[in-house]
Amino acid sequence: MNDNLHQLRCFGCGARIAGAEARPDFRCAVCGELFEVEYPGWSQRKGPDRPNPGALKWLWRERRSSSEALDHSGVWRFRELLPILDSLNNAVTLREGNTPLYHLPRASKTLGIDQLFAKHQGMNPTGSFKDTGMTAAMSVAKERGFEWVACASTGNTSAAMAAYAARAGLRSLVLIPEGKIAWGKLSQAMDYGSVTCQLKADFDGCLRLLTQIVNEAPIYLLNSVNPYRLEGQKTPAFEIAEAFDWNVPDHLIVPGGNLGNSSALGKGFRELHELGLVARQPRISVIQAAGANPLVRSFEISHGAALEPVEAHTRATAIRIGNPASWRKAARVIQETGGWCLDVTEAEIAIAKAEVGAEGLGCEPASAVTLAGLKKLCAQGAIEPGETVVLMLTGHTLKDADYTIDFHRGTLLTDEESVGREAEIEGLRRNAQVVEATPAAVLAAMKDRVG
Ligand code: F0G
Repeated sequence: MNDNLHQLRCFGCGARIAGAEARPDFRCAVCGELFEVEYPGWSQRKGPDRPNPGALKWLWRERRSSSEALDHSGVWRFRELLPILDSLNNAVTLREGNTPLYHLPRASKTLGIDQLFAKHQGMNPTGSFKDTGMTAAMSVAKERGFEWVACASTGNTSAAMAAYAARAGLRSLVLIPEGKIAWGKLSQAMDYGSVTCQLKADFDGCLRLLTQIVNEAPIYLLNSVNPYRLEGQKTPAFEIAEAFDWNVPDHLIVPGGNLGNSSALGKGFRELHELGLVARQPRISVIQAAGANPLVRSFEISHGAALEPVEAHTRATAIRIGNPASWRKAARVIQETGGWCLDVTEAEIAIAKAEVGAEGLGCEPASAVTLAGLKKLCAQGAIEPGETVVLMLTGHTLKDADYTIDFHRGTLLTDEESVGREAEIEGLRRNAQVVEATPAAVLAAMKDRVG
């Protein structure tokens, strides 16, 4: 497909504008909603003129063995489905994507679901799914000639932006809530050379402030309100479909924070379906932390018709967001695909995270909401044993080592939070012990573990 023409369509009023006409805050001038990238050429091509699904699938697989850097990217490998650049020479890549899809044997057995997998987006260059979106939007920033890029973040977006800006030779500004992001993520922004401002505000406050700043200065906004981010973040949907030989799984379970990721994955599967590359779409369910659950409330009160913003509190700091920007898009994905929107408690998140660790994978707390949510869906009978389920693990376990250590030391959760789950938590804790430097003492420590 050489339809190198895209436009932006407002998700609220349907107004269409050219990509270069977007306002700096990516809000519609008519109704204030967000935009979605649209490729008019796709719907104009009918019958034999349609792209050949078999040829595309072959091409995408072949690229994996090419020697071109862009072909090694799990985003740009699928470039026919994200023709957002005038020139591919502007693409900024760290060879993101192509992340592993792991079977989860232990959880599979406990839950009685044979076909249970984790798509580990934490195995990206900066350790989170944000890299797939950042390669796309940073390339646009470079092509449009910006010198500065910026984001508000709970940590992972800033880590990804800082790295890709450094690769692109651009300068970057990070706004983060002071004391509310994991150290691993903060260290990345510093290491890759961003101007990092820790603000006395939460994520929602940081994003509000940044919106004012980009309206005053020539800075390219790289939060997921930027529709090009979602074009990159839709590509894991293509990888998942490819991994199942283009038979999509029955269920995809995604953590919900600012709700860009669930929106992007939904768009990815929708486009595969519209282009005839897959026969159906998976049910997409979004899981939030109980203390940061505006979309869950919205579904309870109005079935996703109006947002119910909250003041967010959760130790899963990545998803500590009370007023998510992309809630309308995510609500549509859940409604269209027949998915669910649930929340999980702090104890459920901590237990699920330890279980993902015990599979030999590990993930950050925000990613573990997917397994915690799956357990609830199974208990409610929403998922059948014979179905295929994919959990999106969004961040690497090393992003938030403090959380993991606190859990295993037994200092993470309060008594109130753990009530009723004490035995389960004890069974998962693996604290490090101080042991005398003798063979006998070390062997005794091993015996204790076996017993
Ligand atoms: N998981 C992780 C590890 C995240 O970092 C985020 C979001 C999410 C899930 C939720 O994704 O916002 O698209 O619904 N992190 C953002 C950040 C907000 O600034 O890094 P979402």
